[in-house]
Amino acid sequence: MKAAEISQRETAPITGATAESASQRLVIAFTVSGLLFLLLPGTFLGVWNLIGIAREQTLVTIAPAWIQAHGQAQIFGWVGSFILGIGYYSLTKMKSQRGFPVVSGWLTWWAWTGGVLLRWLGGITGWHWRVLLPLGALLQLIGFLIFWRAVRRHRPAASEVESAAMPAWMMAVVFGTAMLFVVLAAQLVVLGRVALTASVPALPHVLDQQLVVLVVWGVLVPTIWGFNARWLPIFAGFDQANGRELRIACVLVAAGILATFLPWLGISACLLLTAAVLSIDALRVWDAAVQPARLQGISAGFPHFIRWAYAWLVISCLLNALAVVQDRSGGIWGASRHALTVGFVAGMVFAIGPRILPAFCGMRVLWSSRLMTASVVLLEVGCALRVTMEPLAYEHLWSSAWRLLPLSAFIELAAVSVFALNLFATLLQPPAHLSKQTV
Ligand code: HEM
Repeated sequence: MKAAEISQRETAPITGATAESASQRLVIAFTVSGLLFLLLPGTFLGVWNLIGIAREQTLVTIAPAWIQAHGQAQIFGWVGSFILGIGYYSLTKMKSQRGFPVVSGWLTWWAWTGGVLLRWLGGITGWHWRVLLPLGALLQLIGFLIFWRAVRRHRPAASEVESAAMPAWMMAVVFGTAMLFVVLAAQLVVLGRVALTASVPALPHVLDQQLVVLVVWGVLVPTIWGFNARWLPIFAGFDQANGRELRIACVLVAAGILATFLPWLGISACLLLTAAVLSIDALRVWDAAVQPARLQGISAGFPHFIRWAYAWLVISCLLNALAVVQDRSGGIWGASRHALTVGFVAGMVFAIGPRILPAFCGMRVLWSSRLMTASVVLLEVGCALRVTMEPLAYEHLWSSAWRLLPLSAFIELAAVSVFALNLFATLLQPPAHLSKQTV
């Protein structure tokens, strides 16, 4: 479809209930594809990799392409799809003259999902990888640019824009979104080079690790902070966020990422740790709540799940600092990364997802609040086991730790499966207004 046709279709505004149901269908698509990426290309492959590492008792025999394919599927395929879906849904809440951008939404979904899938298949199978890797990266970038254009065109009319400065939560989200563009553009360049010059479908190790820092700290962490600042006072009853501290935390993150690339790893570790601690203070995460949390239909543990996620953020930063001076075989780095991606990011999505996604997907009610609790508890146990055992095993400090590592993977696989089952079952239920239930 040509650009002129797309914009023509979108000038006939889709508003009101029609916009709501169009956006709900789109969020459902992003949620379902995100869950599928989480289950098979993401977690199952991660478990498979870990079993292989534990069997060989070393990280080096596992193909880097498989490790990178796992990370891609989790970050872009799962968390990225959720972010884009929620991003599109939030457009229905903006006071814009334009209708809901249905065509852009579906073009983004196709380009993004297809791009992540091609990149994953190229890495895993090696089939035509010199074409699939850059093509996948290009499609992801195109999907993102369509999303970006839709968001820009959706800004409220000038007369409705308040003169006040951009709130800190929005600044954190804009920062994360801008960094996503940087990551996707860098990924396209780097994978283009890999396709032309490398002998295997994988990035060189150091550059790969730097890009992991860029995407996790540059995109996921600030985006989570932004949404937390906006919604935790309402959902979890926390006090209003301190905007100044949140802005400083984002600046420290930017400096920490820059230091990673220089590479001044010690300075980077200190900056990221300071940013993490500051964010906890800014978001009032560990302060007493100032009003009751809104827990209808979800687990009563919700506010604690958020607090636990922030504990993992700090643990990850401490391990990162320790890794700078002590790591020999990747065990402490790995534990730090896992604490961040699983403990913080996945822990946060397991808590917030069941709170908001059922409502965004057609005012549904979460299928089971008990399963929500079970998924978070299993994730915490699995993550704790992995983060403790990985340094002991990889750094050759305690040989029995190798036997416990696969157990951690199975517990996390169970957690992920329960989370996905709960959301799939929720989506299979009729919307609340049809089943005469209230959210
Ligand atoms: C749930 C079970 C999971 C298992 C069993 C698992 C396993 C692994 C393994 C074995 C590695 C290789 C490096 C190492 O040994 O430390 C790895 C790397 C990685 N994982 Fe996971 N993981 C899981 C979940 C996740 C999640 C939820 C995310 C993100 C949200 C994630 C993101 C990553 C990233 C970014 C890498 C680094 C990839 C690279 O080096 O390019 N993982 N994971």
